[in-house]
Amino acid sequence: MKLLEPIQLSNLSLNNRMVMSAMTRSRADTNGVVGELTVLYYTQRVSAGLIITEAINISPQAIGSPLTPGLYTSAQMDAWKKVTDAVHAKGGRIVTQLWHTGRAGHSIDRQGERPVAPSAVAITGMQHFTSQGLKDYETPRALTVAEIHQIVHDYGQAAKNALAAGFDGVELHAANGYLSNQFLAESANRRTDAYGGSIPNKARFVLDVMAELIGAVGGERVGIKLSPFHSYEDIVLDDPVATYTYLIEELNHLDVADVEFMKRSPAFPAVPHYPDADEIELFGPLAAPTVIANMGYGRASGEAEVQKGIAQLISYSTLFLAKPDLPLRFAQRCLAQSTGSRQHVWRRSKGIHRLSGVSKLKNQSACRPRPKTVALRHSQTITHDSRSCVSFMVLPHEKRLRLACMLPFKVALCQS
Ligand SMILES: Cc1cc2nc3c(=O)[nH]c(=O)nc-3n(C[C@H](O)[C@H](O)[C@H](O)COP(=O)(O)O)c2cc1C
Repeated sequence: MKLLEPIQLSNLSLNNRMVMSAMTRSRADTNGVVGELTVLYYTQRVSAGLIITEAINISPQAIGSPLTPGLYTSAQMDAWKKVTDAVHAKGGRIVTQLWHTGRAGHSIDRQGERPVAPSAVAITGMQHFTSQGLKDYETPRALTVAEIHQIVHDYGQAAKNALAAGFDGVELHAANGYLSNQFLAESANRRTDAYGGSIPNKARFVLDVMAELIGAVGGERVGIKLSPFHSYEDIVLDDPVATYTYLIEELNHLDVADVEFMKRSPAFPAVPHYPDADEIELFGPLAAPTVIANMGYGRASGEAEVQKGIAQLISYSTLFLAKPDLPLRFAQRCLAQSTGSRQHVWRRSKGIHRLSGVSKLKNQSACRPRPKTVALRHSQTITHDSRSCVSFMVLPHEKRLRLACMLPFKVALCQS
């Protein structure tokens, strides 16, 4: 199976082509410092060819949601060093995803400061999860050019901090409606200066950041995640094909290790003027860096995608959440093809420990469903379909709070 074959990704030798894509966990303390649970969580998933961590705030200004980690204080870096040491000790590879949330945040969790964005345009049609529950999005404050330059610098510093904390590299989070994505989209960027208007101007921020990251840690350690047709967080482009074609061609001039393409989620309404084309087939062949394909892949569909030859790697998120030993399960054919209504089990942290099962999975019998894992007292089963909204809304407030931290994007779906 090609998916399970080793591959060289820039300067990293990976044991297989299965990447664990970034997933916000919201398990940091109020200072953005992760703890032992995070060490355990990532070491449980060390059989992934490459782990991409949850998105990590590059600065206090980057924060959008409560309990998300940072990489700008020495305490935060020391905490991540424990994670990277533990992953490396088990033979894993781990890069971190660098995050600035832009307008996708709330002053409640930003010490009263309004979010900042390319332009003063609020996200509509959905609410934001805060430490005080769901709130309407605020109108963000438009960034000055000097502030944009400072953010670009903050990205470079965060990349240096990432290497000092032992990460093998960094990925720029330019997907899912956060700051980099906001600069690319007319629905968020109404600027008339060098960072808005024309396609080259809209792409300037992302390209400036990528150049800064490459200058800081070397292109062989830098990747980027893009979601060209994904409309989450009210992201709509006038011409996504032309914009992303330009961006990819410019990225090709830089020395970038990989591009992770997140395809649009079928859970979100399609934008009427967007083409139906598959993102990997449309944009993948344009990209010089290694292509990672993401969104909804299972065992067979992931294998079929790498066999096509455009994407060299497949990234999985929700499957890795539920099955920490996913490559082994794929090897043993334990997991059926993704169905689109996959179930994810949420449970308290103790349960998460027990859910890991690499050492227990020694033979095919371990593939059988274990009902115990879905019926404990404090657990709640969530699905991708509308039932998840119902089960979410009947939870008591503090459970919703915790759950929403863990599954921000499904909660938003429930609200839309
Ligand atoms: C709980 C959760 C948290 C996520 N957090 C992030 C994140 O921090 N950064 C990111 O780029 N994508 C994030 N995503 C999106 C995933 O990385 C991935 O693109 C998406 O889930 C599709 O992959 P899948 O079909 O294999 O689940 C998150 C997804 C989930 C379910």
